[in-house]
Amino acid sequence: MHKKRVFSGVQPTGNLHLGNYLGAIKNFVELQNKFECVYCIVDLHAITNHQDPKDLKSNILETIATFIASGLDPEKNIIFNQASVSAHSELAWIFNCVARIGWMNRMTQFKEKAGVNKENASVGLLVYPNLMAADILIYKATHVPVGEDQKQHLELTRDIAKKFNNDFKCGNYFPIVEPLIPKEISRVMSLRDGKKKMSKSEDSDQSRINLKDDKDIIDKKIKRAKTDNNPIPSEINGLENRDEAKNLISIFASLNGIKVSEVLKEFGGKNFSTFKNKLSESAVEKICPIGNEIKKLLKDKSYLDQILETGAKRADLIAKNNLKEIYEIIGLTKFT
Ligand code: TRP
Repeated sequence: MHKKRVFSGVQPTGNLHLGNYLGAIKNFVELQNKFECVYCIVDLHAITNHQDPKDLKSNILETIATFIASGLDPEKNIIFNQASVSAHSELAWIFNCVARIGWMNRMTQFKEKAGVNKENASVGLLVYPNLMAADILIYKATHVPVGEDQKQHLELTRDIAKKFNNDFKCGNYFPIVEPLIPKEISRVMSLRDGKKKMSKSEDSDQSRINLKDDKDIIDKKIKRAKTDNNPIPSEINGLENRDEAKNLISIFASLNGIKVSEVLKEFGGKNFSTFKNKLSESAVEKICPIGNEIKKLLKDKSYLDQILETGAKRADLIAKNNLKEIYEIIGLTKFT
């Protein structure tokens, strides 16, 4: 049996928002008390699209600052950036040789990101899921907290693990990972369009709550968030086809660590203006302290670098050791 170990990755972006927090980071914080956890800033995934080198550097720092400000403990967890541990890239190459082209072509995220001009997408974008599988399996992680949109990539990770175990007749060398998807909110949607994911690339800043937004901005954005004209339902099925309503209710549930059904019990029959007051209070109470802490941490870059360096050394120790086993299984010799 494999020892339980959590692994997850977050792309380094500047200006992380409520979607990143509720969809991923908050979940990471809860897991740190239950499992051994490895959290990675996936800078090598970021460069599947061109990044300005200066921005990339500062985005990595902003992401680590957000992790720490959100309550991740850098001693309890291993927190590091992907480029620091070369075994990720080495195992990704091996998985390039295990996974099939057809598997890659089926990935919906690739289709979405590549758009109409698939021929012009980077090869990295196509094989992105193999690097993700390598991230996870180089630590033989068993559980992966992710949002709903990453489920297909985890299925692929399972397929790669099975094929590798089979091809090299090595029993259950790689574990078959389980996704951990937050129950009350699997995707935080835009405040302007309940069908679109909350995203930093959306033009309108009104569509998202940034973790560094101040109290007044958060309040305004919530008050202006799109809803419909019906009151809040008392039952979950009353949220069907009401994407904006569902999103706001789910955000409230997630911020307060309660179930959607409990929110509906409290607010069912009431109108959105009452609810939005409460939602704004909760968001300000939970998000502002994190935003303030991020700003403070970003003033001490050497402290953030030091966290990443320590984390990288801890991660590298595990990854190197596993890579050695993997090379042996395959019949490769590494003389260094
Ligand atoms: N693909 C993930 C995303 O875009 C990020 C990621 C990279 C990841 N490697 C990972 C997530 C490993 C979980 C495990 O959100």
